[in-house]
Order: sequence, then C-alpha cells, then structure tokens
Amino acid sequence: MKAVVRTNFDDSVSAYDAYEQRTGRFTALARLLAAEMATRADGPFASVLDAGAGTGVSTRVFADRAQRTVALDISREMLRELEAAPRVEADFDHLPFADGSFDGVAFTASLFLVPDPAVAAREAARVLRTGGVVGAVAPLGWVDVDGTDIFAALDRESRSPAGADEVEAALADSFAVTAGTWRFATTAADVRRFHAIPAMAARLYPNLAAEERVAKARDLLEGLEGTVEQRWRWIVGVAE
Ligand SMILES: C[S@@+](CC[C@H](N)C(=O)[O-])C[C@H]1O[C@@H](n2cnc3c(N)ncnc32)[C@H](O)[C@@H]1O
Repeated sequence: MKAVVRTNFDDSVSAYDAYEQRTGRFTALARLLAAEMATRADGPFASVLDAGAGTGVSTRVFADRAQRTVALDISREMLRELEAAPRVEADFDHLPFADGSFDGVAFTASLFLVPDPAVAAREAARVLRTGGVVGAVAPLGWVDVDGTDIFAALDRESRSPAGADEVEAALADSFAVTAGTWRFATTAADVRRFHAIPAMAARLYPNLAAEERVAKARDLLEGLEGTVEQRWRWIVGVAE
C-alpha cells in the first residue's frame, strides 16, 4: 500500500503544483492548521516536523511561523521540488528523530494516506516534547448544494486508505484532541482539476494506471456543474 502511495505521488508533481497554483487550497489548509496548532501549543512553537510535506506547500506555511521546519515525505519526486527546508525521505511510521525533538508535527492532508494512522500517531507523540502539538487535516469529501456527496450521484465512491474518522480516532488514542470541520466553496471545474492529479484520481480508480485513472476521472466528472462544497476535518492534539 505505501509503495503504491509513493508511486502515485511520484507521478503527481506537475499536476499537484498546477492544482495548487490555481486554487491555493493546500496553502489555505496549512495556514488554518498552523494557526490552530500554534494557539494550542503549551509553550513555544519553534520547531515543526512537516510530515507529508509533498512539494513544500505546507512547509512554506510552517516555516513562516517556526524557526526550524523539517520537511519529511515518502515520495522522493514530491520532495525534490522543495529547495529551502531540510528534507528527509522517510515514512511516518518510522520517524528518524530522537524523542522530544519537535514542538509541532503537522500532517497537512497526509495522515489519511496510511492504512493504519495509529502507528504514525504514536510516532508523532514520541518525537514531540510534552506540551507539543500534532495537527492533521483529512478529507470529508465533496457535496452539492443539498449536502449530497457528489460521488453518490455519480454512482462511485471516493475513498482514501483511512477515513477522517479513523485519523481522528488514531490521534485521540495518543493525544488530548480538539477537532472541527472546514468548508470551502469551490467549483465543478476545480473538482475536475483535483482529480487530474494521479494520486487523487486513485481515490476513485485505485487499480488503474496513472494516465488511465485520470482519464476515467475526467470522463466521470465531465457533466458536473456549478458550485460544490469541499469539506475537511481538522484535528489538533496536545502531547501529555
Ligand atoms: C496531499 S499531499 C500533501 C502535501 C503537503 N502537505 C501540502 O500541503 O501540499 C500528501 C503527501 O503525503 C505523503 N505521504 C503519504 N504517505 C506517507 C507516509 N507513509 N510517509 C511519509 N509521507 C507520506 C505523500 O507522498 C504526499 O506528498
């Protein structure tokens, strides 16, 4: 599963950056998450591990707040895009850092990509100092103006390896957590752009090769029109 996720993101660099340039969605998520984390940290928020840093969208946001931000990702190709911060190619489940190394560990749109987020949550707890904070955002999907999942109407499910509920439960096992939901008004065209990213189209067609799955997602979403709401769950926990 992890090798598949790594390959999916290795194949996604240019489409990911194109989506971000068009929408700024991941920057917005990282900014909101950083603000929640900084508010809840018990003590300084000066060193942050950006876990699942990708091409560095979230890393740049956290680097604006913290003196030391380390970017970690399993995908070499995503990480290659990032020039400024220290970069570490590694898996959430085996963080190559000593106990208590960070004031914050941020999973901006990344923790739902592992099949068992509890392992990564325990690793985050280990590398955080007491009073340090973990933060995660996980997708709740896309709904139309009536609040109906847009994929239900298309007779298709959009799934990630772990759901937002699993991410929240995993973090709640290791931290004292607070959670909420962020809602973004967006357009059908941006839903299509999102699924032009091979790693995101894998939510719909996990068993197809990258080009084929993006083409199938494009066909599926062709007729979608109007305004769509994208929902993300956020969870912030304090290390005890
Ligand atoms: C949707 S991207 C988010 C990137 C970045 N945080 C942002 O806001 O743009 C998710 C990232 O998590 C990484 N990832 C997924 N599973 C991982 C794992 N087990 N260990 C480390 N990184 C992982 C992926 O390679 C990908 O770059």
